[in-house]
Amino acid sequence: MSVLKILPDIYSVGVVDWDVRNFHGHTYTTKRGTSYNAYLIIDDKITLVDTVMGSFTAEFIENIKQIIAPEKIDYIIANHVETDHSGALPEMMRLCPKAKIFGTAKCREGLYKHYYGNWDFQEVKTGDKLKLGKKTLNFIEAAMIHWPDSMFTYCPEEQLLMPNDAFGQHYATSERFDDEVDQCALMDEAAKYYANILWPLSSVILKKIEEIQKMDLPIKMIAPSHGIIWRKDPAKIINAYISWAKNETKPKVAIVYETMWGSTGKMARKIAEGIIQAGISTRIFDVAVTDRTEIIREMLDTRGFLFGSSTHDNDMLPAMAGFLELVRGLRPKNRVASTFGSYGWTGGAAKEMEVVLKEAGIDIASGGPSFKYLPDEREMKACYEFGSDFAKIIKGG
Ligand code: FEO
Repeated sequence: MSVLKILPDIYSVGVVDWDVRNFHGHTYTTKRGTSYNAYLIIDDKITLVDTVMGSFTAEFIENIKQIIAPEKIDYIIANHVETDHSGALPEMMRLCPKAKIFGTAKCREGLYKHYYGNWDFQEVKTGDKLKLGKKTLNFIEAAMIHWPDSMFTYCPEEQLLMPNDAFGQHYATSERFDDEVDQCALMDEAAKYYANILWPLSSVILKKIEEIQKMDLPIKMIAPSHGIIWRKDPAKIINAYISWAKNETKPKVAIVYETMWGSTGKMARKIAEGIIQAGISTRIFDVAVTDRTEIIREMLDTRGFLFGSSTHDNDMLPAMAGFLELVRGLRPKNRVASTFGSYGWTGGAAKEMEVVLKEAGIDIASGGPSFKYLPDEREMKACYEFGSDFAKIIKGG
């Protein structure tokens, strides 16, 4: 990423990771890559807001050198401990050992447990301000968005919010701003990021947005730590977050299934026919061959979920088990789900899937079809009718 002035005396000095295809271990696929954004503020006190993934340290330091010698940095704001934003911090502290780090108490603890550095660290809380010269930084604790240490930094003179992970997207681009990129791709990546990382934290996010709105801080630009910067319409992503955090849904259905010899797949398509015939938008995903990150993104604003699995060893098939493990952690609200599938000599998949759905707090609609071996004509008709009935529940909201 080239260094870019985003506001007077504020530079984007982060890096683009074009090649990364998995994040958070392998829980999230990043088909469009990502960026690790960091911001350099030139003022009486030269201040760096966040760093980058450790493997990009050399490129990051070269970026800073295009603006200023790194050893001149006075302050480093650590909005978040996670290594994609703090990985270059040890090298920065080696280059500028007199720099003072600012972050939350949990950030101090977390940085120490990652790097064991004996660094000058000042704890800050919501409401604390740091005067840099002409510009000021205000700190807003943002615990569990998405780690206990997380913090937002706000510059009132520029009406700039730097919320680290919040409002980000895993989206590698040469462009830096929302008005320079494809809007569908941008919102798709923002939604995918929310669904796969932030969804279980929705109640915390909603409260934090309300808290910031009560602070009456004008926001002209949001510069997150991943992806593009929102300058044209920051309200667009704030409003999207409010909608997602409220678990607002559309009358749509996602059918997610795994099949051993094809019967459960056949049932999935027949159920879908009944739903679609009733006028409800529907997507079908074979979880064994579909990117889980994409399915979860689709589920973010979908009201109805149907999970189908053949029975194997009295249980669901393994790709479905792995997927439902993710769903259990996401704890989606305001949804209705049901299950279906085929079995051989005894059932079991539906019961096991329902156990997980109950633990996820999802309402379960009864009547999901479960049939032996290959469904016959009467059973396929029952699948269609179940789809029609499920569509009525979804329409009813
Ligand atoms: Fe982008 Fe929570 O790290």
